[in-house]
Amino acid sequence: MPTGSERVVLLPGDGIGPDVAAEARLVLEALVPEVELDERLLGGAAIRATGSPLPQETVDTCLSAVAVLKGPVGDPEFDAADVRPEQGLLGLRAALDTYANLRPAMLGDVDVLIVRELVGGLYFGARGTREDGTVFDTCEYHPRQVERIVRRGFRLAESRRGLLTSVDKANVLETSRLWRRIVDELAPEFPNVRVEHMLVDNAAMQLATTPQQFDVIVTENMFGDILSDLAAAMTGGLGLAPSASLGDSGPGIFEPVHGSAPDIAGRGIANPAGMLRSTALMLEHGLGRPAEAAALEAAVEIALVNTPTPDLGGRATTSDASDAVVASLERA
Ligand code: NAD
Ligand code: IPM
Ligand code: MN
Repeated sequence: MPTGSERVVLLPGDGIGPDVAAEARLVLEALVPEVELDERLLGGAAIRATGSPLPQETVDTCLSAVAVLKGPVGDPEFDAADVRPEQGLLGLRAALDTYANLRPAMLGDVDVLIVRELVGGLYFGARGTREDGTVFDTCEYHPRQVERIVRRGFRLAESRRGLLTSVDKANVLETSRLWRRIVDELAPEFPNVRVEHMLVDNAAMQLATTPQQFDVIVTENMFGDILSDLAAAMTGGLGLAPSASLGDSGPGIFEPVHGSAPDIAGRGIANPAGMLRSTALMLEHGLGRPAEAAALEAAVEIALVNTPTPDLGGRATTSDASDAVVASLERA
């Protein structure tokens, strides 16, 4: 048995997930052949095989690994079902308590890091249907949940350009007023960080018009979900955007920002860059291998220019693009 420190769990997921996960496997086998990839089920694939989107065996295997590399989950087949692939993903994030979801978006003079709270808010609050047919989802945050993600945002801003934009809807929501208060309470601990508060609707407009103004954005779960797709679109496209979900200890989850893309699934044309950049984040944050991470980042950059997939206006297939990545890794 390989030790946990040498074992990564690979969760291919659904739709284009298995395509991009297969390319991540090839890249890791070329770059760090000593790391074992333990493939498990999550999402729609897991429902079909076991009835559950998150089999206990998957949770246990992830908990004892050094990191989890994950493709997207989701399948239109289950959209109206009671048991859905996305429940598996939320369960996994909660089980690993990966509360800090880092979503970098970089292009030219734009370099923004979205720090999204990942295990609270509307995604995890009370929900249900009342007798009269009213359906409800609840946004809930405990001060401790806010404090730990905001602190993470401050530390990251401190290590970058020193600007923290806290995004909320404090003109309407109680949870946002709590959020704003905690940001202001923590600010004196970080004298080298300039803090600004921004309402989420304005933040979307500012991201779409002048994304260069941002350094670190810290925000709650749902706002971060929406703003991170926008930030991806502003910096090259959804197919390119990676993410790292980290807790305080234990394995992180590394996954692209995009979904299972049912509209192009099975056609072999998905852009593998988001998955490969997530693999680079895993090499850096999960496996402590910054040199390999930088080499992979650089190889993806080259492939994006020379071997673009259709979403970038090119004609390369998924495997053409990742072959180009492996080839440039081998040349380096
Ligand atoms: P999506 O991100 O799957 O697709 C949005 C658009 O972007 C589509 O036109 C798609 O073709 C394109 N796109 C996405 N990734 C691409 C890639 N790598 N290369 C080229 N084009 C790409 O969003 P959606 O259609 O709203 O959601 C589809 C499913 O994915 C849903 O079931 C949703 O729940 C799920 N989803 C999962 C995750 C995740 O597992 N982290 C993230 C987002 C959505
Ligand atoms: C993401 C996805 C997920 C989310 C869904 C699939 C549950 O959109 O990772 O951005 O909303 O967190
Ligand atoms: Mn999303």
